[in-house]
Amino acid sequence: MLDKSPYFFPQLPEITVDSGGQLLLAGQPARDLLARHGSPLVVILEDALRRNCRAWMHPPAGDLRYRMYYASKALLTTGVAALMAQEGLGIDVVSSGEMATAIAGGVKPADILMHGNAKDEAELAYAVANGVGRIVIDNLEEISRLAGIAASAGIRQKVFVRVTPGVRPTTHRYVQTGQQDSKFGFNLEGGLAQDAVLQVLRYPQLELVGLHCHIGSQVLETEPFVAAAGRMLEFYALVQQELGAPLDELNLGGGIGIRYKDSDQAINPAQHMSRLYDFVEEWCTRHGIACPLICDEPGRSIIGETGVTLYTVQSTKCIEGIRNYASVDGGMTDNPRFALYEARHPVAPATGMLEPADQIWSISGKCCETGDMLIHDVDIRALQAGDVLAFFSTGAYTWSMASNYNRVARPAVLLLGNGREGLLAKRETTIDLLRLDNIPGWLL
Ligand SMILES: Cc1ncc(COP(=O)(O)O)c(C=O)c1O
Repeated sequence: MLDKSPYFFPQLPEITVDSGGQLLLAGQPARDLLARHGSPLVVILEDALRRNCRAWMHPPAGDLRYRMYYASKALLTTGVAALMAQEGLGIDVVSSGEMATAIAGGVKPADILMHGNAKDEAELAYAVANGVGRIVIDNLEEISRLAGIAASAGIRQKVFVRVTPGVRPTTHRYVQTGQQDSKFGFNLEGGLAQDAVLQVLRYPQLELVGLHCHIGSQVLETEPFVAAAGRMLEFYALVQQELGAPLDELNLGGGIGIRYKDSDQAINPAQHMSRLYDFVEEWCTRHGIACPLICDEPGRSIIGETGVTLYTVQSTKCIEGIRNYASVDGGMTDNPRFALYEARHPVAPATGMLEPADQIWSISGKCCETGDMLIHDVDIRALQAGDVLAFFSTGAYTWSMASNYNRVARPAVLLLGNGREGLLAKRETTIDLLRLDNIPGWLL
């Protein structure tokens, strides 16, 4: 047995290894958690999550005003919404479903910001009827659509215009959003953003309070955000001074990355925000404009590292000279990130954390699909049926992207605190899977 684990995993006080090589989550052996709650299981470490919320609520020096929204697409249940509301964050939603979840979790509608590049009439009406704080206009069609809905409701809706600033950060192309060739927002280049602002200003039912941009996700450098802020401030000043809109807010989106591997350099929230705040303050002073209220929408960097998914190995297959497969009781149905973009999560054997990682294994999911892999070619100890595998940093964009392919039930999500545990989502059952099915009368 080694005296130190050879596996990379997030350095959180809630993730430890005991002297027998067992993985402990908030002091609880991983295997015991599965015995109590079933396998597979998504565990969210409450203390780490609250710490991250507080780190992102980092107040700027001086008088600069700021507001944080949690990007709920990363992971949302009513309990997650309740925790975010307790921690004082607003919530960014992209659909009526996310909005309903946030409201059911106790988030005040005024603290909700709504995104979406294809919001339909019903979604916009639902948002307006609920008194959602901000709606981010993403395309020309929704300007008149939203104005009509606001007029019928007899309100003036606060809106942002989403701008595509033309910044392409280093990250997977599927999660780049700020480049010219993007389905989101209005491009600065070519004047589309300016046209959108002018159109919004024509409608008295719409109150343009700010501008929004988002450059991408899993970005591990601050400078692309600063570059985007610079472009956005130039446009912000133009909209205020030349188009006469009394803007007061600038939303710089989320997108800050986390460490999925040893060589990733983590971004420190306080340093990141300080760099952005200082840049904005300095820019505004230099150009003689009042500093906007700065908003941000981190998702992954708040909840990503606080999640650990535990699976049980069901079978193994070793093909001499080719590959060793270990198949687990979950897969792309609870974490499609490898299937989507070959994203690699840190993996370790939950009861052999001190054993040498002297073999190479690929971990496959249970679906009838060759692409249903959780990871290829990972260094790990010998695996056999019954072993518990921990996939780390699965808090963001795993369970929230889950599906029922092959009618596989989605796993439970457990909030694990110091000395307390409670489900954020129950495990789906066969009854849940059949709930929406219908047999047309003529088939009976
Ligand atoms: C508009 C918007 N805001 C916020 C986020 C959150 O990004 P992240 O989870 O990378 O912080 C996203 C993610 O893609 C997004 O599209």
